[in-house]
Amino acid sequence: MKNIAVIGAGTMGNGIAHVFAQSGFNVTLIDVQEEALERALGTIGRNLDRLIKKEKITTQDKTSTLNRISTSTAMKEGVASANLVVEAATERTDLKLSIFKALDGAAPADCILATNTSSISITEIAAVTERPELVIGMHFMNPVPVMKLIEVIRGYATSNATCIAVMELSKSLGKIPVEVNDYPGFVANRILMPMINEAIITLHEGVADVHAIDTVMKLGMAHPMGPLQLADFIGLDVCLSILRVLYDGLGNPKYAPCPLLVNMVTAGHLGIKSGQGFYVHTAGTKELVVAPNFR
Ligand SMILES: NC(=O)c1ccc[n+]([C@@H]2O[C@H](COP(=O)([O-])OP(=O)(O)OC[C@H]3O[C@@H](n4cnc5c(N)ncnc54)[C@H](O)[C@@H]3O)[C@@H](O)[C@H]2O)c1
Repeated sequence: MKNIAVIGAGTMGNGIAHVFAQSGFNVTLIDVQEEALERALGTIGRNLDRLIKKEKITTQDKTSTLNRISTSTAMKEGVASANLVVEAATERTDLKLSIFKALDGAAPADCILATNTSSISITEIAAVTERPELVIGMHFMNPVPVMKLIEVIRGYATSNATCIAVMELSKSLGKIPVEVNDYPGFVANRILMPMINEAIITLHEGVADVHAIDTVMKLGMAHPMGPLQLADFIGLDVCLSILRVLYDGLGNPKYAPCPLLVNMVTAGHLGIKSGQGFYVHTAGTKELVVAPNFR
């Protein structure tokens, strides 16, 4: 594999383009918004500068990495010579299904079509294509250049050959791939989201305050950040929508989202992206300030 197309140049897409290009692949980064592409190139440049500062790469490495990335707003042309497409567009089922239908017609017949979805069924996405054996989940973690794990998700019809190719490719990026099957939440979110939800229920029931809950999990379980801080980082709207996928897909009341989480999302308190969640987030400071609602 040499040519990679990445669909969606947001938080995840820019990181995915970065790691492929830094590992020597030619990358076409595709988005419907020209500004998203410009922002992504800016972010990649700054992240590469950080690696230069840490003496992990040279300025020459930065130049050649950036030279391997081209951008496009035309998906059809952008994927025409791809060996692998990694889709990292907005998390909406209707959008992903229409993208995969279009990709199936535009990408070469032997091109593997991967999705970075956090929660949508790989099997459902594969079913809209004529090549379900070549469709797979490639779930990178945020921030992509830093996090080692790739959760490789086999849809019901994904072939062994596709799975082996994606596992090997992931290793060539310096990542550690783990193979899992396609059930709601896969493994990462099936375990993480109920933990976050339980932390919110613990807060809602008044068992402990925000700071206490996060401190117990940080110092007691050696987690790098507490579950409430992590929820703010992921986005409370994202947590809620993944919990709903688990609840609907597995039919077990233990996945029911905490009413406090539902209220916060309805009120627009989404965590870092809106400036407030369980904590107040001010650009340029790392101090953890508990939000007024929880003081
Ligand atoms: N943010 C995370 O922490 C995280 C972690 C793992 C997986 N994911 C998954 O990665 C995917 C992307 O998430 P994100 O956080 O980067 O989203 P984002 O909102 O930051 O970026 C999505 C990008 O997709 C673009 N887009 C929308 N429709 C498109 C189309 N038809 N063609 C091309 N581009 C299109 C948007 O313009 C936007 O730039 C989602 O499936 C999400 O579930 C996110």
